[in-house]
Amino acid sequence: MRRILVVGGKKLKGEVTVSGSKNAALPILAATILTHGISSIRSVPDLLDIVTMIRVLRTLGLRAEYLKPNTVRVWVNDYVKHVAPYELVTKMRASFFIMGPLLARTGFAKVPLPGGCAIGSRPVNIHIKGLESLGAKVELEHGFVIARAKKLKGDRILMDFPSVGATENIIMAASLAEGETVIENAAREPEIVDLAEFLNKAGARIEGAGTETVRIQGVSSLQSVEHTIIPDRIEAGTLMIAAAVSHGEVLVKNVNVSHLEPLITKLRQAGIMVGVEVDQVRIRVPDGLKAVDIKTQPFPGFPTDMQPQMLTLLALAQGTSVVSETVFENRFMHVQELKRMGAEIRLEGRSAIVTGVSKLQGAPVKSRDLRAGAAMIIAGLAAEGETLIEDIDRFIERGYEGLDKKLIGLGADISELRNIAEYDEE
Ligand code: UD1
Repeated sequence: MRRILVVGGKKLKGEVTVSGSKNAALPILAATILTHGISSIRSVPDLLDIVTMIRVLRTLGLRAEYLKPNTVRVWVNDYVKHVAPYELVTKMRASFFIMGPLLARTGFAKVPLPGGCAIGSRPVNIHIKGLESLGAKVELEHGFVIARAKKLKGDRILMDFPSVGATENIIMAASLAEGETVIENAAREPEIVDLAEFLNKAGARIEGAGTETVRIQGVSSLQSVEHTIIPDRIEAGTLMIAAAVSHGEVLVKNVNVSHLEPLITKLRQAGIMVGVEVDQVRIRVPDGLKAVDIKTQPFPGFPTDMQPQMLTLLALAQGTSVVSETVFENRFMHVQELKRMGAEIRLEGRSAIVTGVSKLQGAPVKSRDLRAGAAMIIAGLAAEGETLIEDIDRFIERGYEGLDKKLIGLGADISELRNIAEYDEE
């Protein structure tokens, strides 16, 4: 268990470079199952979730290596196994991404049903419905989802909700299906566009990724690919908010500004100056922070993965903000922790009513999921005194490549507390 101590009150200053996107890299790694030969994927963040996906690929018979810094090479031969191990899939929900490609490639996939997680029950019914529309016979047996299809066949799929993961799983499966698949009400997140670009380079025929209608003409096989993952828009946003709450001035490099627009709009309304320069943004807060209302929605709406960090910023803004969470049912765990730091927040159903305070106070806090953990670091940077954050390896480091180091590089006072028990064991 890694614990960090954040001493608040330091203004962040300087430049920081954003890593490649975890949420783009995970489905792209799964998509290598569809290919033949050796693929190289660059700008892959060095994270536990990526290691888990590499392990999943290996158990399916692929050879996959992480080459430092930030490249994953995958070798795919003709033979691919069908069963994903329970221990790995239950560790990381994104392992379910292998369902579509495995089924399309081998005609059979047996993948454990992922459980819920701290932010909600997170079912996979939309993934399954989509695969069934492509002709798969899907059964649930002893906690595993088992899907069979001699050959998937293209169809028109109307998604009940624009699920990111389901859109990705269906695009991957449809790439090797017979005929045309049309996904209506598809998710439009930039990570889906990156996946489609990877697959198109490999020989797939996907049009419309990034819009609500995606058309896929199935092809018979896909080749190996060289691909560079897009910058992580959630990491970029987290760094932008960290800079803002510290009232510093920071240049956040390696961003795709169009991916950040929903966030930039709200940050500007909250009184933050966001200077946009091609692939970088400069953050400054000329006056105070102001209240704004936020409603999370699928892209191009405000991202749910930025809600905890934005809510933390609004806890320090003048006035009252309403933060509504429409994507996940239980994504306000950070609220209790922020209240322990002196924030004034009231929960009403799926909304948080945030009345800004002038200061937060440092306290020992817990991070119970990835983005809530990042929110705790942000709160600690702005707070008076010391904030102790536990379990950063279980949560924050699963999704952020060296976030504490990057913030230290900008002048944050963050140190790691060694676990005394570790010394006892040595
Ligand atoms: C992805 C992101 C995650 C982000 C989320 C929403 C990855 C690896 N993760 O997760 O960081 O927070 O998008 O932007 O890319 N749902 C169903 N049935 C389904 C699928 C989803 O009811 O079959 C529900 C979920 O429970 C949730 C909502 O739809 O309430 C959004 O989920 P989805 O868009 O699928 O998110 P993920 O792909 O899991």
